[in-house]
Amino acid sequence: MDEVNIAVFVSGNGTNLQALMDADLAGGKIMLVVSDKKDAFALERAKKKGVKTFVLTKEGFDTREAYDQELVKQLKEEQIELVILAGFMKILSPYFVNEYKNKILNIHPSLLPSFKGLDGVKEAYGYGVKVTGVTIHFVTDKLDEGKIMMQEPVAISKEDTIDSLREKIHKVEHRLYPEAVRHFVRGELI
Ligand code: GRF
Repeated sequence: MDEVNIAVFVSGNGTNLQALMDADLAGGKIMLVVSDKKDAFALERAKKKGVKTFVLTKEGFDTREAYDQELVKQLKEEQIELVILAGFMKILSPYFVNEYKNKILNIHPSLLPSFKGLDGVKEAYGYGVKVTGVTIHFVTDKLDEGKIMMQEPVAISKEDTIDSLREKIHKVEHRLYPEAVRHFVRGELI
């Protein structure tokens, strides 16, 4: 079976990280959790699972590229081959994207290209669409763009509140992201 060393990038709660750490990744191995926030709860989740963490805040870096150079250095040391963004709130520079071309995945809580940006659930709910969903895509240096790998729709019912919708979306994310990683590890193009 193929072995793929994975780094998961987080900034917050880390429920997707948790789902990935708990899942069978078909030979994918989470070697490192990277956070740009010292107090991200996701770091606690990683420590509990015995996964190495690396915190890099933006302080002391004049440019996005300088920050990303430091990140790439760390990833190379750990021989990371796949980068998974799971609620990471920074846009990667062209330098980073080029270093890991076609090896960076992101999950977004809407059916892209609709409702890009910081809070896709709130945007979709506020707009009043009847169907939204989850997208997993390859990452470019543009926000929420890049080739779509997987998508799954989520219906919004009259009874849904923003919180119940968030819950529905998270449930789909937690199943879909490990599935996407397994596809990547097996080299399946979908
Ligand atoms: C997810 O909804 C994901 O789609 C978005 O950020 C959120 C992260 O949630 N990119 P969590 O930290 O994994 O709970």
